[in-house]
Amino acid sequence: MAQHYRIATLPGDGIGPEIMAIAVEVLQVIGQQLDLSFEFKSALIGGAAIDAMGEPLPADTLELCRNSEAVLLAAIGGPQWDNLPAHLRPEQGLLGLRAGLDLFANLRPAKIFPQLIDASSLKRDVVEGVDIMVVRELTGGIYFGQPKGIFETELGKKRGVNTMAYTEVEIERVGRVAFEAARQRRGKLCSVDKANVLEVSQLWRDQITQLAQDYPDVELSHLYVDNAAMQLLRWPKQFDTIVTGNLFGDILSDAAAMLTGSIGMLPSASLGPEGTVGVFEPVHGSAPDIAGADKANPLAQVLSAAMMLRYGLNQPEAAERIEQAVQVVLDRGDRTADIMSPGMNLLGCRAMGEALIQALTETA
Ligand code: IPM
Ligand code: MG
Repeated sequence: MAQHYRIATLPGDGIGPEIMAIAVEVLQVIGQQLDLSFEFKSALIGGAAIDAMGEPLPADTLELCRNSEAVLLAAIGGPQWDNLPAHLRPEQGLLGLRAGLDLFANLRPAKIFPQLIDASSLKRDVVEGVDIMVVRELTGGIYFGQPKGIFETELGKKRGVNTMAYTEVEIERVGRVAFEAARQRRGKLCSVDKANVLEVSQLWRDQITQLAQDYPDVELSHLYVDNAAMQLLRWPKQFDTIVTGNLFGDILSDAAAMLTGSIGMLPSASLGPEGTVGVFEPVHGSAPDIAGADKANPLAQVLSAAMMLRYGLNQPEAAERIEQAVQVVLDRGDRTADIMSPGMNLLGCRAMGEALIQALTETA
């Protein structure tokens, strides 16, 4: 009997539907090969949901996600929704999903593909061999802290407020995910904060330091976020696993991603408490400028499906086969426009999907 999985697919906006279609096809092929059966149910999120239902995260979408074994998300947002009031913006769909599923740990690997080194804006010797895992806290910090809002002052002038707050429990639970991740990797964890200025960061640092007693095999270090940003560009190979709060993680994970040459290659996993449903999505956005033009790079979406298999469904062999197929197409010189370099074969989104499926079938 084939192992059966219910997967919620949330294509979202922009290039989302195009890259999701490829990931679903790839999963179907891998399913046939390894006797896994996937039942895909699609739902609206982001701008697509705003247009159809008037809200970025319809209750049915959240319900479907809760009742699935895993959620595969593409990307949300676009200029046509940028001027809506804050609670009606596509981003709220994503934030609502994170909060609604309690996805407190966001794993963002930034690993260089040797075939794409020359696509990086940094020198070869700086980026060659880079393999970093950013663990970003995802449901707390300044993204969710109260009070927040734009308030009138006594002088009739407006004042914008957000609050960066973390409880010990919030720090501990993401800290444990990061220590465990470091343990599975090269045993080094760097915690990033702004403890020289922010009280919330002092608590963060104390809590992570205390937690380190439970992980004597992991070497813990601390950096202030400004220095961490600099070190990522200066000598990224010093990093193995990084753990940080929501806002710092948002920024540093984009910087880490770009070391690899293209943000179009990077997947991510957002995980909640043990045994709950995770969300797997590319790090990149919805690229509205190329939406519908068959130019998108589907590889981050496909690699997100691989992360889903590994972290969400405990099917490491299926994950490896997909990752292997990505290596094969890159070795062959197949490239989408974002990772194109002279002498390589320029493919559209669909053709890249076909190349992947061919590679999967050949290596099976
Ligand atoms: C990300 C994005 C989101 C974030 C936006 C779209 C809300 O930048 O996933 O990194 O800020 O978390
Ligand atoms: Mg971001």
